[in-house]
Amino acid sequence: MEIKISPSMLASDYANLEAELKKCSDGGADLIHLDVMDGHFVPNISIGAPVIAAMKKVCSIPFDVHLMISDPYFYCDDFIKAGADIISFHTECDSDIGATIDKITAGGCKAALAVKPNTPIEEVYPYLDRLSMVLVMTVEPGFGGQSFMEGTMPKIKKLREKCPDIDIQVDGGINTETVKIAGAAGANVFVAGSAVFKSENPADTINLLKKNAKM
Ligand code: DX5
Ligand code: ZN
Repeated sequence: MEIKISPSMLASDYANLEAELKKCSDGGADLIHLDVMDGHFVPNISIGAPVIAAMKKVCSIPFDVHLMISDPYFYCDDFIKAGADIISFHTECDSDIGATIDKITAGGCKAALAVKPNTPIEEVYPYLDRLSMVLVMTVEPGFGGQSFMEGTMPKIKKLREKCPDIDIQVDGGINTETVKIAGAAGANVFVAGSAVFKSENPADTINLLKKNAKM
């Protein structure tokens, strides 16, 4: 599987988004991870579609939009229009999952389903043939800078055995060490917020994440 690194802008300097995006392109990032939180699905509020649309104007790397919101069916159109390339939403949301996947793909985006650490991976099975990616959260969603939960790895192994070709993304606590554990379990798309943006040289960190993921 192709290894992809998706820096999470949640850990970037929101006052300098264009410069922060440039650090990702200079470092060879494959995707840009954008965390959308509604203060209801998770106890935190982040950015919305207008900010993503503005970022899209100054960055050509595909946008990987992670919706941590209760009603992705209602809001996904806004993110399609803002320039999302992949939209992930949670099985634990209040929307109809199948209808939301259909709306995302009808809008020309790739659809992905995310599961929180305590949600069984089997929850995504009925939808696999309509998904381009599955996101296995390796922390409780809502905040950056948390510790990687290694107990989520069996879910990745199970899904990788079932689906040798699907993109499996991990998000939360990924750094140049934990990326090895998640990669060995079968993940191939790695979100990293703090590890990239709090490092002295984000480009070097992206390169090292990519190298270590293959080990
Ligand atoms: C957390 C978000 C993550 C977050 C990861 O709910 O979904 O994308 O930015 O941050 P780090 O990499 O710092 O754990
Ligand atoms: Zn995320």
